[in-house]
Amino acid sequence: LSVAVLISGTGSNLRALLEAAEDPDYPARVVVVGADREADGLAHAEDFGIPSFTVPYAHYATREEWGAELSAQLAVWQPDLVVLSGLMRLLPREVVDEWAPNLVNTHPAYLPEFPGAHAVRDAIEAGVPQTGASVIVVDAGVDSGPIVAQERVPVLDGDDEHSLHERIKPVERRLLIDVVRRVATGDLDLTSP
Ligand code: GRF
Repeated sequence: LSVAVLISGTGSNLRALLEAAEDPDYPARVVVVGADREADGLAHAEDFGIPSFTVPYAHYATREEWGAELSAQLAVWQPDLVVLSGLMRLLPREVVDEWAPNLVNTHPAYLPEFPGAHAVRDAIEAGVPQTGASVIVVDAGVDSGPIVAQERVPVLDGDDEHSLHERIKPVERRLLIDVVRRVATGDLDLTSP
């Protein structure tokens, strides 16, 4: 299965996928990494010799124009699956329509709890005893698509946004690696998750 990964940040989930794909028995390969800015995580693509591209959000007058270029760049690589892993942008509907359902997103909360860009901070502020990690099929909403994997993560006394996010990310990585494997083996059919 050929996978494109889109990031905005450190790309720790991307790195985990790249490391998993090093195993010759893992049925997926990352073929390209894309970003909406000069993300630190692009260095992981370089480390693994994977091509990458950036479509800087700031260079476009509208989200739609940005999305059209992003989609065009993705199309060059003909990925079977597009993984949003720390892409901190909402995709225009046209981009979702073009790539879904072969378009999944990792989210650091137990959806539908805490959707949106500040899920970990929101969980801290809500004072909940547990949150989680989720992988969903992307739809045109905000973290509102069908859930394909999720797992609870405890919130510990004294946690702040960073410590909680660092506890969530390893769970996210494990869920993501497993979802990509299940899509590759046909065990998970994204058209009917
Ligand atoms: C991940 O928790 C992702 O779900 C969220 O932002 C974080 C990105 O982390 N959207 P990284 O860039 O993969 O380290």
